[in-house]
Amino acid sequence: MALPSVPRFGSLFPDPLNVRRGIPLYYLKSEEENRRDVYERYDELVARQTALHLADELHGGYPLRKVSDYIRQWLPDLADAAAVDIGCSVGRQIADIAGGHPNWDCYGLDFSYQMVRQAQDYWKEGKTLNPNLLRFGYPTVALQGQVLPNLHFALADAKTLPFPDRSLDLIVNTFLIDRLPDLSATFAEWLRVLKPGGRLITISPLNFLQLDHWRQHYPPMKIIDPLLRDGWDLLDLTDPLMIHEPMDARGNEVVWKTLAFVVESPC
Ligand SMILES: C[S@@+](CC[C@H](N)C(=O)[O-])C[C@H]1O[C@@H](n2cnc3c(N)ncnc32)[C@H](O)[C@@H]1O
Repeated sequence: MALPSVPRFGSLFPDPLNVRRGIPLYYLKSEEENRRDVYERYDELVARQTALHLADELHGGYPLRKVSDYIRQWLPDLADAAAVDIGCSVGRQIADIAGGHPNWDCYGLDFSYQMVRQAQDYWKEGKTLNPNLLRFGYPTVALQGQVLPNLHFALADAKTLPFPDRSLDLIVNTFLIDRLPDLSATFAEWLRVLKPGGRLITISPLNFLQLDHWRQHYPPMKIIDPLLRDGWDLLDLTDPLMIHEPMDARGNEVVWKTLAFVVESPC
C-alpha cells in the first residue's frame, strides 16, 4: 500500500524556486539585494533579534509580551486553521501560535535568509543557538531550540506570497509594514491569499523609512480607510500600543508607539 505523501515544506507551499539548506526559497535575491539588506548581516540584526525574541532569561521574561498578548487576544476561534506571520524574523510570534494550536498549519515567511535560518534552526531542527551578545553587555547564553511539526518557514517577499488564492485564515505581521516599498499592492496580495472573512492582525510603529511613505500612509487612517473602502471589516484599532524594546544589559530601551489593528477580509 502506498504511503500518503508527506509535504516536504508544509501542505500549502508550492514547489520552491530553490532550496538552501532545507529552506524553500520563493524569491531569488541578487547579490546586490543581499548586500543592501541590513537583515542579511548576521552579526548585527540577527543577534539582536535572537536576543529579543528567544532569550527571555536575559530580560526576566519575553520583552514583547504585549505584542503576543495582543495577537493572542485576536486569534480566530477555529479548531483548524492556516496561519502565517509575514516578516517573522526568528519566528517567535508564529511559533507561539503553532505551539498553542497543534492542529493549525502555521507558516513563517521572511525576506532575509539569515532570519529564516535562525528560525528554522531553532523551531524546526531543535538546534541550540549561541548568539554573541557580549557587545550588548549580556552574558553568553545557550538557547535550546525545539521541534514544532506544524510550523514551516520560507524565504519570500511579503508582496508575492507562496500560497494559493483564499487559502489562509490568518495573517499576522509585526514591525513590518513600515519597511515595505508598496503597501497597497501588499495588502492586495494579502487579500488574495486570505479566505473570505480571514483575519489580518497588524502591529507597526509606522516608523517609515522614506518621506514618500510618510506622506502616503500617515496618519494611520490613511492605512485603515483604504482597507475599509475595499470592504475589510475593522474589528479593532488600538493606537497607540506602547512597546518597550530592550537594547542592552544596562536597561537602555527603545519605546515604540505602535498602531495595532485587526481587520477581516470581505465575505
Ligand atoms: C523590524 S523586523 C521585525 C521582525 C519581527 N516581526 C518583530 O516583530 O520583531 C522586520 C522584518 O521584516 C523582514 N522583511 C523586510 N521586508 C520584507 C519583505 N518585503 N517581505 C518579507 N519580509 C520582509 C525583515 O527581514 C525583518 O526580519
